[in-house]
Amino acid sequence: MKGVILAGGAGTRLRPATCVLNKHLLPIGPYPLILFVIGQLKRAGITDLLLVTGKDDLGDFAAFLGSGEAYGVSLTYRVQERPAGIADALRLAQPFTGREKFVAVLGDNLFEDDLTPWIQAFAQEGPGARVLLKAVPDPRPYGVAEVRDGRIVSLEEKPACPKSAFCVTGIYLFDEQVYAIIADLAPSPRGEFEITDVNRQYLARGQLRYGILSGWWIDAGTPEALWEANRRFAERALSLHL
Ligand code: TTP
Repeated sequence: MKGVILAGGAGTRLRPATCVLNKHLLPIGPYPLILFVIGQLKRAGITDLLLVTGKDDLGDFAAFLGSGEAYGVSLTYRVQERPAGIADALRLAQPFTGREKFVAVLGDNLFEDDLTPWIQAFAQEGPGARVLLKAVPDPRPYGVAEVRDGRIVSLEEKPACPKSAFCVTGIYLFDEQVYAIIADLAPSPRGEFEITDVNRQYLARGQLRYGILSGWWIDAGTPEALWEANRRFAERALSLHL
């Protein structure tokens, strides 16, 4: 299976650092953030990778990662013209993944679990998508999944009153239907093509499955979360897997 890493975006919550460096190149210890996601994919046997980022930052990624050879992976790059949302960035993966199922990961997600079992299970499943959930104390900044009797029954983006503690992490497994779904999406009120709207379409088709991460998970998009990631790294609770 191929892997897609989404590493564009505006990184507004990490300004001013992200005015000079893409969020995914900010350091955890001495290692740019992006290496942790690459390591997690490699750990799961996914080494054929597409990296999507903005036009201002592509040069930095290429200068740092090159072909991926130094890390035992093969990297292809695509430019997202403007940060128009996660689903907009994902759209660019179509020529890379074609008709195959694939795993997509947000480049700022750090997590403890080995993805191998989820990826293997997904490869055996019928058509559809699978999201990985994590129960968090405050799910309001995230997409939130309401789960009943082993099924997701609703998905809400950044709800004021979440119906569960389960946020949808930035680890997704999709089949080729994702591209037709994205092609039909309209931008949300905030002007972005939302991944939650993509997942809602799979839900409406009865084709959205889920897993629950058992280890810790960090969305390193805020100064506090980046600090927490550094703390875990210092305590050796966060490894590179490369
Ligand atoms: P977000 O953290 O939702 O957005 P952001 O990175 O722009 O940060 P901020 O909200 O502080 O402005 O993005 C989650 C991940 O998705 C991140 O790893 C980058 C990726 N992404 C893209 O690749 N393209 C996009 O257009 C957006 C919005 C995000």
